[in-house]
Amino acid sequence: MENKNLNNFSVKDKVIVVTGGTGGIGRGLVKGLAESGARVAMLSTNEAKSKAVESELREQTGGEIRGYIANISDEESVEAAFARIEADFGRVDGLVNCAGISFVNPLSEMPMDRWSSVMDVNLKGTVVCCKVAGKYMYKNSWGRIVNISSLAATHGKPGYTAYTPSKAAVNAFTFTLAAEWAHLGINVNAVSPVMVVTDINRKQIEENPGYLDNVLSSIPQGRACSAELLLGTVQFLLSEASSFVTGQTIGCDGGAQNGDVAVIKPVESM
Ligand SMILES: NC(=O)c1ccc[n+]([C@@H]2O[C@H](COP(=O)([O-])OP(=O)(O)OC[C@H]3O[C@@H](n4cnc5c(N)ncnc54)[C@H](O)[C@@H]3O)[C@@H](O)[C@H]2O)c1
Repeated sequence: MENKNLNNFSVKDKVIVVTGGTGGIGRGLVKGLAESGARVAMLSTNEAKSKAVESELREQTGGEIRGYIANISDEESVEAAFARIEADFGRVDGLVNCAGISFVNPLSEMPMDRWSSVMDVNLKGTVVCCKVAGKYMYKNSWGRIVNISSLAATHGKPGYTAYTPSKAAVNAFTFTLAAEWAHLGINVNAVSPVMVVTDINRKQIEENPGYLDNVLSSIPQGRACSAELLLGTVQFLLSEASSFVTGQTIGCDGGAQNGDVAVIKPVESM
């Protein structure tokens, strides 16, 4: 039932599922949400890594964090993980779709199986997790879904013919599902980060000297994003305070979405 405490930005005691929870951004969000008092279920593909991150973050935060293994583009695997999450936590209040992959290559050399795998994880994986999580949120007539999209969803860049359309489709899926589930008390939004240095882009950065500086110089605030910088926006969208916010894609990008790419010294006008 809708709680009327609309000025409440807290996620305390909310059960939040974070996919890609052992990845660069996911892990930071799991940590931050647990520090804010959420009970966090972390979905990932690698059991050993999941166990290690789970015990490390439990120790650091003192929070309730449990790891589950699932391939997000496989509906059966996601169904099984959510059934275990409900058995352990009793309910599901929020979902952060953070798992994702990238493959950057000119289209003329694009292996179509790699193109499809980007769609399979970024788009289908997000769809599957929403579909499954929605069944649990529906039981309480309350839910919050946050899809981690990307600034790349709206910016064409050479080599991005798989990643960019996958994230553009995530944005379109977000506002479509928001309309479909608005009457159920389930809000669906997306957050679009700009560059965060993680495993998803580390090789690309290492192999292209100057690339990172180039990206940073196109961000008006002139700095990279991080899980810590994303946390406030994500937490707001998981809280009661975002009750009337649904179907949105919110940039968390130091001004990059709407700002000019050139970083210039201010010039005094006469
Ligand atoms: N790093 C950036 O610059 C950046 C910018 C904008 C958006 N994003 C998005 O943020 C999200 C997190 O990316 P990251 O930077 O933390 O990357 P990352 O590579 O560190 O983490 C991605 C995680 O997704 C998991 N994953 C991949 N395929 C999966 C599958 N089939 N099932 C379950 N889990 C799977 C990986 O195991 C990994 O833990 C992604 O959706 C990415 O597209 C990243």
